[in-house]
Amino acid sequence: MPVVRGKNIEPLYTAEQIAERNRDMAKRIASGPTNDLLVIAVLKGSFIFAADLIRALHDSGLAPEVEFITLSSYGTGMVSQGVRIVKDIDSDVKDRDVLLIDDILESGRTLLFAKELLYERGARNVSIAVLLDKKVKRKEKLEADYVGFECPDYFVVGYGMDVAYAFRELPFVGVVTGDAD
Ligand code: IMP
Ligand code: MG
Repeated sequence: MPVVRGKNIEPLYTAEQIAERNRDMAKRIASGPTNDLLVIAVLKGSFIFAADLIRALHDSGLAPEVEFITLSSYGTGMVSQGVRIVKDIDSDVKDRDVLLIDDILESGRTLLFAKELLYERGARNVSIAVLLDKKVKRKEKLEADYVGFECPDYFVVGYGMDVAYAFRELPFVGVVTGDAD
């Protein structure tokens, strides 16, 4: 089992499995709404997935523009949770087809916020691609259009996803299972 920063990391999805799903998703995205396509990666966790998926989109014949948005959740426990824009996109989305890319769809709050925001700004169509879907954690009525893997309710790291900024560099998705001895 890989040991990183003194922790055992059990691989859940290998680099090869992820690459295969990315190729699959790109093909399906290419047959969806892609008129003047704008891809928006939701930072930070999606940066590696987005980098791979947009190259797979090229291999599937698409030539999207690419933008980034940084969103952050606030509020915990009893306080109602909200999402705020930390860093917005620069592009005008009016009448464009948009593909949002994120690492994990969990409660759905982040991506519901982003989707509604883009429709309010006049996007023609907004679809969502996520690497992982944790369906059991859903709080909003929202589904992704393209899903890499339906993921059990584990806290996962790697392939861009972190615990306190660590483990993003792992080429696979894994679960921290404990201290290495
Ligand atoms: P939600 O759908 O609004 O609840 O937001 C899900 C976001 O929480 C994801 O985009 C991740 O940034 C973060 N997140 C959720 N689960 C995990 C995990 O298992 N590992 C790392 N980040 C996670
Ligand atoms: Mg995120």
